[in-house]
Amino acid sequence: MTAAPRTSEYPIDKQFLERWSPRAFTQQPVTEEQILTVLEAARWAPSASNLQPWRFFYGLRGTPEFDTLLSLLVPFNEGWAKEAGALIFIASVTTFDGERQNITNSFDAGSSFMSLSLQAHSLGLVAHGMAGIEYDKAPAVLGLPQNLKIEAAVAIGHQGDASSLADFLQTRETPSVRLPLSDIVFNGHFTGEIKAPA
Ligand SMILES: Cc1cc2nc3c(=O)[nH]c(=O)nc-3n(C[C@H](O)[C@H](O)[C@H](O)COP(=O)(O)O)c2cc1C
Repeated sequence: MTAAPRTSEYPIDKQFLERWSPRAFTQQPVTEEQILTVLEAARWAPSASNLQPWRFFYGLRGTPEFDTLLSLLVPFNEGWAKEAGALIFIASVTTFDGERQNITNSFDAGSSFMSLSLQAHSLGLVAHGMAGIEYDKAPAVLGLPQNLKIEAAVAIGHQGDASSLADFLQTRETPSVRLPLSDIVFNGHFTGEIKAPA
């Protein structure tokens, strides 16, 4: 399936428009090499004071690790992400010494997510972020210490055909649009109002 064209108001690298988050995957496996490659990209994300608070957990489809991560998704996500080639959970370190709070842990982990998403795209894979996680269950199942916070999960794989999805998901299987720059960018100070996406 090819993505419908997205357009930008200013010329940008095509990867930013081409990357999107499909839910349909083919059965083609994702290799450990590919997962470690996307995580290598994530490793090079910037972070406050270079604290690198991100920590990653992955499982390849067909392994017990995948099944464990899958069981930590909410049923809606489990329904389609079970066909992904791999799952990644992103956690972040909230404090390194028990006292000093790392206030940008989530922001930095988000940067690592974008890096891995774009690296997946450049490998010909697709990556789909998920916050629909059983956040209460995940720390115990993954054996997390108290200062490691689950941020989000990612389904990665080879893009499949929308027809493989449940009916209600097929119409949503298309690249989304964005708010115009004029709604989100302000020269110096805030003007107007907060506009929500349609
Ligand atoms: C942090 C985060 C959480 C998300 N959670 C979910 C989710 O639980 N389930 C889902 O189907 N999509 C989820 N998404 C995908 C978003 O809906 C999607 O990125 C957004 O609509 C923009 O579309 P695009 O990624 O195709 O450009 C999530 C994305 C992000 C970044």
